[in-house]
Amino acid sequence: MFRKKDHLVGLDIGSSFIKMAELKTTGQGHVLHKFGMARITPGSIVEGRIVDMHGLANDIKSLFKSQKVHEKNVAISTGGHSVVIKTINTTTRPEKELHNTIYSEAEQYIPYDIDDVNIDYQIIGESESSPELLSVLLVAVKKDLVAEYIELIHLAGLNPKIIDVDTFALQNAYEILPYKNAEQITLLADVGASKMSLNILKANASLMMRDNMSGTNQILEEISNQTGITLEEAEQALNGERKDVVSRDTIQSIGFKVAQAWCSEILEVVNAFQSGANNEKVEKVLLSGGGVFIDGFKDCLLSELDADVSIINPFEGLIVNEKKFPDSFITKAAPQAPIAIGLALRRVDDK
Ligand SMILES: Nc1ncnc2c1ncn2[C@@H]1O[C@H](COP(=O)(O)OP(=O)(O)OP(=O)(O)O)[C@@H](O)[C@H]1O
Ligand SMILES: [Mg+2]
Repeated sequence: MFRKKDHLVGLDIGSSFIKMAELKTTGQGHVLHKFGMARITPGSIVEGRIVDMHGLANDIKSLFKSQKVHEKNVAISTGGHSVVIKTINTTTRPEKELHNTIYSEAEQYIPYDIDDVNIDYQIIGESESSPELLSVLLVAVKKDLVAEYIELIHLAGLNPKIIDVDTFALQNAYEILPYKNAEQITLLADVGASKMSLNILKANASLMMRDNMSGTNQILEEISNQTGITLEEAEQALNGERKDVVSRDTIQSIGFKVAQAWCSEILEVVNAFQSGANNEKVEKVLLSGGGVFIDGFKDCLLSELDADVSIINPFEGLIVNEKKFPDSFITKAAPQAPIAIGLALRRVDDK
């Protein structure tokens, strides 16, 4: 069963950490088989683009080796600048015609030359504004970015079977959570090292998506600017691995300030959504990414939003053997794990 041809390993290539997850799908549900994360050399990925191809390929190889992963087929994802996600409305027409229309209409929604992007789309259904219109989710990814990631995966000795989008992979992990209430309007907010992505959902459909360049790197840059230490030292200090380079107070006050800025950015998006015509309200916020470790971030959202705010634990959607993955490990890994798990849930023939 496990060696089925459609089996995949989920690989989330973040700009600061790579994460891998492998699941076994049984009649009882998805069983966590393997999970691991590793920090990558700072500067290997800048603004979503791969700078150090060989270094990064070696980091992936080492992670797969340390976790004893034998499966070569992987699902990866991209995000940030080079990915454009838009919901468009188009007139209803036969499937084949629709395909051509979407491709020709796509041009006006995408800030890049149409020949430079790979386009994919998914029909969401009847448009809310008019029953004659069809609502379509359009995704465009720059071809050179895709080529870069494919080259990286090949260099690591693996086969890239699926190239997904970070936001969708996160949503995929959210959808298997046992306690979620799909009718509740939920904001998924991932704050990583170099980007923040927001996705407001209702009944598993996305109502609003936003990406920006905020992340924990802002804290590292500020620590480095204020104290003169390197970004690498700042990272070790932030994670508590080094206590000799900068005082705890300095880290905390810088982290706190940046976290308030993230909180304001999220409030702005929530307010923009809530001031829309439909009179709907965000009732739940699920946070993910390394940003959740920063003091003051969750508290700010809790005090500013009239919503239930918590940190995602994507392992709750899986069957986890406690002997293999102790609670302490799961709790620590949970915020950074959802995208890799969402990717591991994909099957080779998924669209
Ligand atoms: N225990 C911790 N304490 C404080 N900060 C932490 C801790 N663990 C991780 N971080 C921060 O979280 C960051 C990593 O978060 P995450 O794994 O979500 O980023 P990423 O996915 O690599 O980045 P991106 O998605 O933006 O490319 C680290 O760079 C670090 O600054
Ligand atoms: Mg990330």
